[in-house]
Amino acid sequence: MGLPLQDKIAFITGASRGIGQACAVALAQAGAHCIISARTQMGLMQTDDIILSFGGKATLLPLDLGNSDASQQIDLIGPSIAAQFNRLDIFIHAAFQYVPLTPVTQITDRAWDKNIQANLSSVWRLIRTLSPLLTATADANAIFFRPITSVQPFWSPVVSIQTALGAMIQTWQQEIAQLSSLNIHYLSLPPTNTLLRQSFFPAENKLKLNTPIQTANDIIALITH
Ligand SMILES: NC(=O)c1ccc[n+]([C@@H]2O[C@H](COP(=O)([O-])OP(=O)(O)OC[C@H]3O[C@@H](n4cnc5c(N)ncnc54)[C@H](OP(=O)(O)O)[C@@H]3O)[C@@H](O)[C@H]2O)c1
Repeated sequence: MGLPLQDKIAFITGASRGIGQACAVALAQAGAHCIISARTQMGLMQTDDIILSFGGKATLLPLDLGNSDASQQIDLIGPSIAAQFNRLDIFIHAAFQYVPLTPVTQITDRAWDKNIQANLSSVWRLIRTLSPLLTATADANAIFFRPITSVQPFWSPVVSIQTALGAMIQTWQQEIAQLSSLNIHYLSLPPTNTLLRQSFFPAENKLKLNTPIQTANDIIALITH
């Protein structure tokens, strides 16, 4: 019997570690060809090594979503995947660039601009470039994650951006609902032991957290069942 995602194409951002890496590995184990993206070439190669170890297939796309020069490169991702694979079954956006927690009045121009570029504008560009292919592929899935925490002092660099992103995702969800079989998932995740989590909550008991593999398996089950 074939694998559940045999012949499917998946694009995963934030695939060099954490939840994105675990999702890419789980998707490849289920038979998908994974296009994996992040800034760190070494991290992507590590993900690729894991995927190759069980005979899976991956294409590496090193990309810094926080680099203002990356806009043109992001805009070309959709047409490039279309030219090479002519389909996109799964998009998982797991990239998030760490931002230091700061009182609203003390956020610097540079930190604000970088945050908007890496964590909001780039996602709008990704949605815009991938949407034609996702909506043209039968029963495709796009997966995004809800904010890691709620409104509280010092968290505006994270919560403001993630809330704006959520509004954009849910708007897109409503816009395409009647027009396409694309499923847009906007998921709450359980606390998961990753570098991002450790940076935001250094004193947390890690033994009580999900592993990235546990979280990824639950995410991928949405697609495979
Ligand atoms: N962990 C949790 O408990 C939890 C809970 C709720 C929601 N989430 C959400 O889950 C998502 C994944 O988080 P995680 O916990 O897995 O974090 P993580 O382990 O730190 O992974 C973040 C990923 O984003 C990539 N990245 C960071 N900046 C980037 C940039 N400028 N351009 C391209 N890629 C970039 C990183 O790779 P490079 O450094 O190689 O670029 C890495 O692969 C985030 O949206 C987070 O808010 C996590």
